[in-house]
Amino acid sequence: MPEVREIIDSGELKEFERIAAHSHIKGLGLKDLKAEFIADGFVGQEEAREAAGIVVRMIKEGKFAGKGVLLAGVPGSGKTALAIGIARELGKDVPFVHLAASEIYSAEVKKTEFLTQALRKSIGVRIREMRKIYEGEVVELDIKHKPHHYNPYYQIPVGATIKLESKEESKKLNVDQSFAIQIVQQGIEVGDVVGIDVDGGRVVKYGKSERVIKKGEEELYADKPVPLPEGRVFKEKEFVYLLTLHQLDMMRAKSSLDIASLLFGAERKEIDSEVRKETEELVKEMIKEGKAELVPGVIFIDECSLLDIETFSFLNRAMEQELAPIIIFATNRGVATIRGTDYKSPHAMPIDLLDRLLIINTRPYTEKEIREIIKIRVKVEKVDLDEEAIEYLTKLGVNSSLRYALQLIVPASIIANKKKVGVEDVKRVEKLFSDIKRSVEYVKEFEKKLLEY
Ligand SMILES: Nc1ncnc2c1ncn2[C@@H]1O[C@H](COP(=O)(O)OP(=O)(O)OP(=O)(O)O)[C@@H](O)[C@H]1O
Ligand SMILES: [Mg+2]
Repeated sequence: MPEVREIIDSGELKEFERIAAHSHIKGLGLKDLKAEFIADGFVGQEEAREAAGIVVRMIKEGKFAGKGVLLAGVPGSGKTALAIGIARELGKDVPFVHLAASEIYSAEVKKTEFLTQALRKSIGVRIREMRKIYEGEVVELDIKHKPHHYNPYYQIPVGATIKLESKEESKKLNVDQSFAIQIVQQGIEVGDVVGIDVDGGRVVKYGKSERVIKKGEEELYADKPVPLPEGRVFKEKEFVYLLTLHQLDMMRAKSSLDIASLLFGAERKEIDSEVRKETEELVKEMIKEGKAELVPGVIFIDECSLLDIETFSFLNRAMEQELAPIIIFATNRGVATIRGTDYKSPHAMPIDLLDRLLIINTRPYTEKEIREIIKIRVKVEKVDLDEEAIEYLTKLGVNSSLRYALQLIVPASIIANKKKVGVEDVKRVEKLFSDIKRSVEYVKEFEKKLLEY
């Protein structure tokens, strides 16, 4: 089934799975840079959240470009949650790319190409453009058809007359075939508010006009009704949109696709460095002319102790470049060997890179914090647990790990089979699923028995 494959391959699903465990994190929960005990789904870990808040401020004010952050702390102490909180605080307008270090090795493209693309996905360019457009509610629409050249039974649109009305005037326009086709394709009809971008050759449907929707019928329409455009029908208007450097590269690369890739429908996996240079020159020119501004975003590299020395030095160099995003690393390793070398280093990272990073530590959770995090996840998973069960899970969180306790919520609800989950259900799944300590002991025991034979 082709559709299913498509969904599985798409990056969106990966993104969804990656953040599903953190869906309760809505931000950093700060007020004037001060963390409340529970806010935005975040519990405790106040100092790290406040430090992250300062980083967000610096990024938004453009004072952090080319710098980096390291989130370091024991497993399950909220490093990934913190990075997601930062992304939420930055808002949609700042690019945020989330990578697990292991992806760098599993990608089909070369490591450096994969990284370069990821870095360029995290640098935005806000482009402003004045465009001449016609805007108004469609009050008359007449689409002219002609029989198709080869198939006379088939009528194709060849042009249209369209009358638009704004608050101040109405205007009749004759548009050619390319516009007529777009009108038909988008199902534009009388009563819709549209914009016609003449230079760009595009028609855009904004939505149904407020004027034509009867009171009480608003709910019949999927999209919010649109007010009648202000002023005259013909106007010059500023458009602002955000594209990433990678998107600009892709647009250039696509227009220079070779015949082979057209024939086989292959998308380019690698982009020429020439194309990238051209993009950069174009962007710089637009910035000089005041038509664009740079929006350095964030690339978050989780589990960074899996990166090797080559990758670290590549990233180190990238941070020095003119167009550099902000890099946030996360690690739960103390002193360990840097991959690809024989020597040990703090956090398994080269010292010269570490030196450039602001380090934020996450500390292990207290019992009180664990209880609140469990309560939040229970709500998100829509599971009904009684007090005693929550207390028991909290104990497991303290004695084993927070993750282990969180992972038992859904299995316990399945065992309870739609009834309220009690402590006996939690105890049962605790038996069925080991925590790490028990699992290791079990395997060790088993090995010992094997040796005795
Ligand atoms: N302070 C917190 N408030 C609310 N939820 C939290 C908090 N800290 C962690 N969590 C949740 O607990 C789970 C484990 O945390 P997270 O994955 O962020 O830990 P981590 O430090 O990244 O661990 P690892 O080193 O194993 O990657 C996640 O579901 C996370 O959303
Ligand atoms: Mg993590």
